[in-house]
This record gives sequence, C-alpha cells and structure tokens, in this order.
Amino acid sequence: MSQHQKRIGILTSGGDCPGLNAVIRAVVKSANQSGIDVIGFLKGYEGLIDPVRYLPLNNKNTSGILTHGGTILGSTNKGRFAATVGVADRLNLDPELLEDVQTTFKQLDLSGLICVGGDGSLAVAQQFHEFGLPVVGVPKTIDNDLSATAFTFGFDSAVASATDALDRLHTTAASHGRVMVLELMGRHAGWIALHAGIAGGAHVILLPEIDWSFDQICHKILQRERSGKPSTLIVVAEGARLPDGDMVTHDGPQSLGQVRLGGIGNIVAHEIEQRLHRETRTAVLGHLQRGGGPTTFDRVLATQFGAHAVRLIIERRFGEMVCYRPPNIESVPIIEAVNDLSTVDPEGSPVLAARSLGVSFGDRPTTEQAFVSPWLEDDDDREVEDRPEDVPEEVEVLL
Ligand code: F6P
Repeated sequence: MSQHQKRIGILTSGGDCPGLNAVIRAVVKSANQSGIDVIGFLKGYEGLIDPVRYLPLNNKNTSGILTHGGTILGSTNKGRFAATVGVADRLNLDPELLEDVQTTFKQLDLSGLICVGGDGSLAVAQQFHEFGLPVVGVPKTIDNDLSATAFTFGFDSAVASATDALDRLHTTAASHGRVMVLELMGRHAGWIALHAGIAGGAHVILLPEIDWSFDQICHKILQRERSGKPSTLIVVAEGARLPDGDMVTHDGPQSLGQVRLGGIGNIVAHEIEQRLHRETRTAVLGHLQRGGGPTTFDRVLATQFGAHAVRLIIERRFGEMVCYRPPNIESVPIIEAVNDLSTVDPEGSPVLAARSLGVSFGDRPTTEQAFVSPWLEDDDDREVEDRPEDVPEEVEVLL
C-alpha cells in the first residue's frame, strides 16, 4: 500500500453462494478505480482476530473469478461469531471479541469493512456498527429470505440448478410412471421451491408457508392418473412442516443456534407409497443448488452490489446495507435486513398463478385462491354470452 492510499476490507460469511466472487471482484475493481486498496479477510469474521488472516486483493488475483462459484476468501457459518437464533441473542456478541476486532481495524488502518452475508452474518455486522466500527453490508443467500432487498444474489443460480434437476426428473418419472419427490433448500422460506417448482413444471409444491395434507397430495396424484398421467412431480421445501406441525431436521451436531433442516422428502415419498402403493422416489438436491457459478442475473446483481458497497464506504454511510429495489440498487440500515425476514405470501401472484395452472400446494384452496373461469360453468347461455362476438370459430376451439 502506498503511504497515502486508503485501505478497506471485505469478508464473506455464512453459507457460500454463487456470486460471492463476483462481489469481491467488483469491490476490488471499483475501489482501485477510486485509489483504495482492498484486503480480504479469510474464513468470514474468523479472519479478523487471533490469528488475523487476510489476503491483499488486486486486479491480478481477482481476475477471472467473476464466473466462479464459492468464495476465494473462504467462509464459515460456525465459530466465534456464529449468530444464534433470535434478535436479542444476536445483539449479544462478547465485548472482548469486539475489542479484538477494533484492534485489527487500528493495526491495519482500515477505513471500512464490507461484510457479505445472510441474516445471521449481517446481525454481526450490525453489532460491529453499534460498537462504532465502520462497516457496510452486502446481502447474500440462496434462500432469498431478506425482505429489505427484492432479490439476493445466489437465489437465481439456486433456482436454475433446481429447475435443471426438475427437468431431468420429469423424463425419468414419465418413463417409469413414477411419483418423484425433489427436496430443495431455503431454510424457513419456500422461495427456491416455489420458483423452481413453477419453472420446472412441478405438479405439487409443498412450502413452509402453506399448510398441507397427505390426503390432498394423494388426491392430486390420483386426479392426474385419471386424466392419463401416471407420473407426478412433487417439490418440497426443506422447511415445510409436516401436517402435524413438525419440522424435519438432521440429527447430530448443528451450527450454533440453527437447526439443520432436511429429510422431509423421504418422509413424503414414504407416506405416498404407504397410502397409494405407487412407486415413489426421492431426490435431495442439497448443496448442488448452492455450488457452481452464478447465473447472468446473479453476476449482474452481485457486481452492482459490490460497486455500491464501495460507494457507501466512500460516502461514509456506515451501518447501511446495499439492496435491490428494482430497477435501482439502493441501501437500507442493516438492522432492517436483520429484523425483517421475507417468506412466500400464500396469496401472492406466483402462488395464485401456479394454482390457476392446476398446481397443488397440498391444501384445499379457498374460493378466492381457486380461480374458476365463469366459462367453465354449466350455464351454456352465459358461456356464449361472455365470449366476444367476433371470435372466429377456429379460435373458439382453442379457447
Ligand atoms: O442458508 C443457506 C442454506 O443453504 C440453507 O438453504 C440450508 O438450510 C443451509 O444453508 C445449509 O447449511 P449447511 O451448508 O451448513 O449444511
């Protein structure tokens, strides 16, 4: 670093996702353009203290990483800074840790730190801010569960992988006339399952936000069979609750304060087999939906986030987090992102659109949700009356 050049830091924390390297690259490029040096702390917040571990970042060692998955800085959702569940707990980092971080800021003469993370990691950034450290946030997660931003990068890439998996399951399910269950990530939000389910043409989508029953799933499978379709594709979000209200979690060690979800796919498949005696198979996409390179959408979003984060530091707008408010990149206080998680609206347009296509959410839709065209009513006179008079006959056939 030249004597007068300012220096900022960046770290990536929590579960990785496609687009992290695109943010790092954007931060380095745009900071360098403004005469600022960048160092990258290794393994999330862990790299900030005892032992302090960082990598000087420059155009050379960040060149070509735009398209790469994961993060060249490493990440962790465990360790000394792991956020625990509940806002009150999250605002309770050990003061000694905070003082150690402050010492690192002083020793390295840092003018600012960009914390790239999900809600847990951003909660840590918020505590740094409250302690007086100059931080800004960049939201990332495949789960898309931060309401302060229309989209987080990583989500679109995860949905693309999940959709590809569904496309593949379609062909094998149809060949064998089987029921296929695909379990997807997303924690307590059903965004990945909902979007991939729609994009991949799933017949049943089970979400944490909509209560469902095995009766309704079986009803849908039988209904499809009656219309000559022996295969059914079911997408289930890992955070969907069983009809008795239970969440399905992995046994064994869990990252501090956070349950490790997973296993519901097998339970759903088993129950369908028991009830209907149909061949049923489960696929758990797991970390395949989190690995790999970012989609073009995520590259663009991550690049804009990185550039905007540098601008926030230059303008000394500490304690803020970049966000996407289409069509613009803006910023909000980090605390907003931490306190307000986004989940699927059961009355929202993606759900209603899927329902109108006949997709089942494993529930019995209310009258408002189940849009029924008046043209389907048995009243022949009215059906004719409702049609535009000048529709040619061949179009009427299509209608
Ligand atoms: O938050 C991202 C996420 O991939 C969730 O969708 C999932 O529940 C969790 O992380 C998995 O965490 P881990 O990588 O620790 O198994």
